[in-house]
Amino acid sequence: MSGRPVPSRRTVLYSAAAVSVTGLGAAACGPGGESGVAAAPTAPVDLGAEKEVAPGSVKLYRDHNVVVGRDEDGALKAYSTVCTHAGCAIDRLEEDRLVCPCHGSEFDPRTGEVLHAPATVPLEELRVKASGGRLVAGPGA
Ligand code: FES
Repeated sequence: MSGRPVPSRRTVLYSAAAVSVTGLGAAACGPGGESGVAAAPTAPVDLGAEKEVAPGSVKLYRDHNVVVGRDEDGALKAYSTVCTHAGCAIDRLEEDRLVCPCHGSEFDPRTGEVLHAPATVPLEELRVKASGGRLVAGPGA
């Protein structure tokens, strides 16, 4: 005999159930979990009037998962607001930081850089342009 106790059938089944519950918990935090599936634009999207993003300001477009910033010289930058940690839609712009509701990652809305973990990868930069008084962002913009 090895001296090690042999697990009973009940012990094995209980352990399998615990692993299964843990797996469900992890899925609820991911892109398909409680916060829903978030997706960046896959085609150009009309965000609205260009004047809504004044020089030196930032605007979060929750419906399109896009943030647009304009520097003092008028240059535009846009980023996807799909969190690079686990894919949740970032829905809060607090002063100069985007805050993810799922695990608290924070990003600079003007550069896309990570300001607070757990995310480690910057936000995806998107093409953006002003055309006919409208802002358009996304691939092909
Ligand atoms: Fe985890 Fe955003 S999905 S911090």
